[in-house]
Amino acid sequence: MKCDMVQNRTSYRSDIKKGFILLIALTFLLLTVVYIFFVPHMLAMTPNALYKNLAKKIHSYYVVIEFPFFRDKQVQQTATTQHTTTTQTTTVAVTNNITSEHYHVAHPHNYQFILDESDKCLKQNPFLVLMVPVAPQQLEARKAIRSTWGTETNVQGKSVMTLFVVGLPGGAESNKTQQMLNEESRQHGDLLQSNFTDTYVNLTIKTMVIMDWLATRCPQASYGMKVDSDMFLNLENLMTLLLDPKTPKQNYITGMVMWNRPVVRSKNSKWYVPEEMYPEPTYPTYLLGMGYVFSNDLPPKIVEASKDIKPFNIEDAYVGACLKRLGIQPSSPPDPSQFKAYMGKYQREECLRVITTILGSPKQLIDIWKDVKRSV
Ligand SMILES: *[C@@H]1O[C@H](CO)[C@@H](O)[C@H](O)[C@H]1NC(C)=O
Ligand SMILES: *[C@@H]1O[C@H](CO)[C@@H](O)[C@H](O)[C@H]1NC(C)=O
Repeated sequence: MKCDMVQNRTSYRSDIKKGFILLIALTFLLLTVVYIFFVPHMLAMTPNALYKNLAKKIHSYYVVIEFPFFRDKQVQQTATTQHTTTTQTTTVAVTNNITSEHYHVAHPHNYQFILDESDKCLKQNPFLVLMVPVAPQQLEARKAIRSTWGTETNVQGKSVMTLFVVGLPGGAESNKTQQMLNEESRQHGDLLQSNFTDTYVNLTIKTMVIMDWLATRCPQASYGMKVDSDMFLNLENLMTLLLDPKTPKQNYITGMVMWNRPVVRSKNSKWYVPEEMYPEPTYPTYLLGMGYVFSNDLPPKIVEASKDIKPFNIEDAYVGACLKRLGIQPSSPPDPSQFKAYMGKYQREECLRVITTILGSPKQLIDIWKDVKRSV
């Protein structure tokens, strides 16, 4: 009986051992699967895309997640800044060897404004101009902005102007879409259209066209902002930042700063950039494309620098490359958490605190706006 029990206990123990080993093996297997299937996928995205994707996913599940690795990046700012400065000399040397005509594709002077608001700045004398790149058919997004932050034309006594930037509509419906754009432009007077085909790969052209418009049609403005159409924007907080005496009035650009982001080399990624287009393994310091703010002396400088920078299809990193050519360092905002690439569950206090954050849909912008602007 006693003997039996000992034996039982021994086999019981060895069962536990086996089970334990099996459990470890399974955990390991699971981690391997996760690593193989998900990590390359995540690494293959630009941070812009990664955050946006995560943000979109998070929106649908309504959970709040912090990104500690991003925080670390901000702490490392000084270290990486130094790194960027050291690599700078090499790039400049490389670009100097190549004549500018090779690189004129993104240069806005190759394009022409079809819808222009050339005297709008003369009439309104804006302090801040919000430039919103949007696809021609995204009427809902424009409507949502026109009924939310686009209505704020005077903030803390300063004039604010919102303009939408589109390219040429493509596809079978392009004539119809163009007619609708012409009508929309007559009605609202806030559309800018340039003659490149409006596609995802042409976003760099669109951004440079934005810079060109600010440089040539709106030199009197003090600040500009490139802000995506799926963003919530708190103009009170943005204005407080811009009117702060500590905020530079020149050579200033801020937003969510990206340091040492690897260039995506996996061919099936939307953010793939071939080495012929951009040979270095990492991008220069840049600001995440969802929304960045700059002093309005920068647009003409960026346009000029773009003559020497070979275009590649990652528009925010391309602006980063132009800035690097100019020797201008993007600034971290006084409170970096005011530029958010995800929101999680809607919280009114968060919207009252941030400058900008990514949203899920035009409808969400309208809903959130109502709640944020209610008096209590
Ligand atoms: C855009 O307009 C410019 C100036 O008229 C012209 O030279 C260029 O070929 C046009 N580009 C496209 C893509 O239509
Ligand atoms: C824009 O993108 C399309 C393809 O998506 C391409 O055919 C075109 O050449 C690009 N550039 C211009 C200036 O339209």
